[in-house]
Amino acid sequence: MKEITGSTQLFGIVADPIAQVRTPQVLNAWFSRQGVDGVLVPFHVGSEDLATAFDAFRRMRNLGGFIVTVPHKTDTVALCDEVSERARAIGAANAVRREADGRLVGDMFDGMGFVEGLKSQGHDPRGRSVLLLGAGGAAAAIAHALAEAGVEQLTIANRTVAKAQAIAERTMHSVPGIRVHAVEKAESANHDMVVNATSLGMRADDPLPIAASQLRPGLLVAEIIMKPEMTALLQTAQENGCTIHLGRHMLDCQANLMGEFMLGRSVA
Ligand SMILES: NC(=O)c1ccc[n+]([C@@H]2O[C@H](COP(=O)([O-])OP(=O)(O)OC[C@H]3O[C@@H](n4cnc5c(N)ncnc54)[C@H](OP(=O)(O)O)[C@@H]3O)[C@@H](O)[C@H]2O)c1
Repeated sequence: MKEITGSTQLFGIVADPIAQVRTPQVLNAWFSRQGVDGVLVPFHVGSEDLATAFDAFRRMRNLGGFIVTVPHKTDTVALCDEVSERARAIGAANAVRREADGRLVGDMFDGMGFVEGLKSQGHDPRGRSVLLLGAGGAAAAIAHALAEAGVEQLTIANRTVAKAQAIAERTMHSVPGIRVHAVEKAESANHDMVVNATSLGMRADDPLPIAASQLRPGLLVAEIIMKPEMTALLQTAQENGCTIHLGRHMLDCQANLMGEFMLGRSVA
């Protein structure tokens, strides 16, 4: 195991709850591969204390940056001193870099991580027609990144259709030329790719996020849930002859983007 010394740079992940996060394992392995003298540790901070924690982070001179996850991604936009255009358009940030003068700069990599993950498995989304299930924080970031990646058409299906409509409008505003539709009922006809960005699939008794009959052979079915690795959706999709894409590729690809960003190296 790496030795932590007085000159090791500190990084964190801020969440509540915290025990489920996988970022420490993934980012510390990345630091070690990159030869970076840094360590990333979990910071368990609740919403009521987030602003106080950010003030403390500004004053911690050996803090390089931190990752932000549930439930803080939206609040992070207002608490940073500066955020990227992408984070502002999505309304959420999940990585913060601390500049030498203590300023906190936020950016959002969920969507880029997802798109890079797809490409890493040979599934370039450019020109595809995508059905995105869900309209929460992860879906907003993925919609934006898929639009930027040049999908031909995007449909967002969500139980609360108003949230899907809001993401559709924001995406069309920030990525001109993309067509985004919001619907309540998920139907895969006229689409060649389905992405599950709902939280359905984490628990064994969750219903499928889309009817099994919609999973026809040839469709690419992508998951963003990491645990379990084979969700009921992926199992059913595989049985029905679809190509499947696992949730872990999104985090694996984000690690590189978030690490480079926190170290102040340029990220697209
Ligand atoms: N692989 C990765 O790197 C990565 C990164 C980020 C997130 N994630 C995963 O992505 C998932 C979503 O995260 P999030 O932050 O976007 O969550 P969120 O903001 O809470 O959104 C949850 C979404 O799931 C829908 N949903 C929840 N329960 C439902 C039900 N019973 N029936 C129908 N729809 C339901 C919600 O619909 P309503 O809007 O109608 O409530 C909403 O669209 C989580 O499992 C998270 O672990 C993975």
